[in-house]
Amino acid sequence: MSIHGSGSVLALSSPDISPKDTSIMVADPVNSVHLKYASLGVLVLQTTSLVLTMRYSRTLKEDGPRYLASSAVVSAEVLKMFACSVLVLMENNFSLQGMKRLMKEQVVKKPMETLKLAVPAGIYTLQNNLLYVALSNLDAATYQVTYQLKILTTALFSVSMLGRRLSLFQWLSLLLLMAGVTLVQWPTDSEGNTEEQKVLTAGSRFVGVMAVLMACISSGFAGVYFEKILKETKQSVWVRNIQLGLFSFVFGFVGMMVYDGHGVWQAGMFQGYNFVTWVVVVLQAVGGLVVAVVIKYADNILKGFATSLSIIASTLISYFLLEDFNPTGIFFLGALLVIAATFLYGCERKPASVVAIKA
Ligand code: C5P
Repeated sequence: MSIHGSGSVLALSSPDISPKDTSIMVADPVNSVHLKYASLGVLVLQTTSLVLTMRYSRTLKEDGPRYLASSAVVSAEVLKMFACSVLVLMENNFSLQGMKRLMKEQVVKKPMETLKLAVPAGIYTLQNNLLYVALSNLDAATYQVTYQLKILTTALFSVSMLGRRLSLFQWLSLLLLMAGVTLVQWPTDSEGNTEEQKVLTAGSRFVGVMAVLMACISSGFAGVYFEKILKETKQSVWVRNIQLGLFSFVFGFVGMMVYDGHGVWQAGMFQGYNFVTWVVVVLQAVGGLVVAVVIKYADNILKGFATSLSIIASTLISYFLLEDFNPTGIFFLGALLVIAATFLYGCERKPASVVAIKA
């Protein structure tokens, strides 16, 4: 699959899209291509800044309790829903009446359609919490590279759920990806650590890696599921995101009360919040919006390109600015393989694997 877009041909990923539905996706191809690249660019920036800020916020030493990760997930959902509501209002020429009518028709009167979004919402909520677990236990670079395994899970779910076909090169690149991630994860003996510290570090690393692996499965499934829903129907992406957000908020809130309920009752939901926490929350919310646009105008695999580029950025920043990461030769080799695999995956467009529609 090429990363080059074309103004006249819009590649869709789901072969089971009906002709009736596809018509809306060719309404403004030039605009779509612009949106595709703009959204991918913003995603690179957003991913890099989110990973680094989140890692910084989870390691920052401050007086008093650290903010609750589960609460930050809920705050981001609320912010996202607010932003989506403003966007739906804009789509309706700022008519509150129009927006109300649309929401009634699309959300309230179609409970089964709305209910479909409960699946990715539950999975994304788990994933968003796992992200904090991962970045509390792993350095930013190791996290980023290992999380690239989501390209593999996304590919597998795309094949099984969307009926997408992969070329030999693409399968090979997936093998390369796994080799790269294994190298990045290769245990290194940190000098100067006591035996006790080494056991603690290894334990923490294990928790972090497990969290990332679970997030990879969740990201692949939820992303493809959302792509299928989005491309099968002609509903506004922002309405879809409000539906998703409604469930995500409920799941996130219940999760927060189950895991951190005691702390919330004692010191409130916003305990330990500082400026950096709010930056993380805003970046998380912006990320959700950008991911939705990328899934609509590009696809989940192209999303992998954006994150690969952000790996290079966050590795360099993690090394030079945060000084929390000491890359070994094996790490560099692994990271190189991951990035090479990502580009190899994307450098071939198989006509048979996509539905191409002439505008
Ligand atoms: O790493 P990955 O690309 O799977 O991350 C997706 C992120 O985007 C999650 O935080 C998820 O909550 C968010 N998202 C969203 N709205 C969508 C799709 C994803 O907020 N429509």
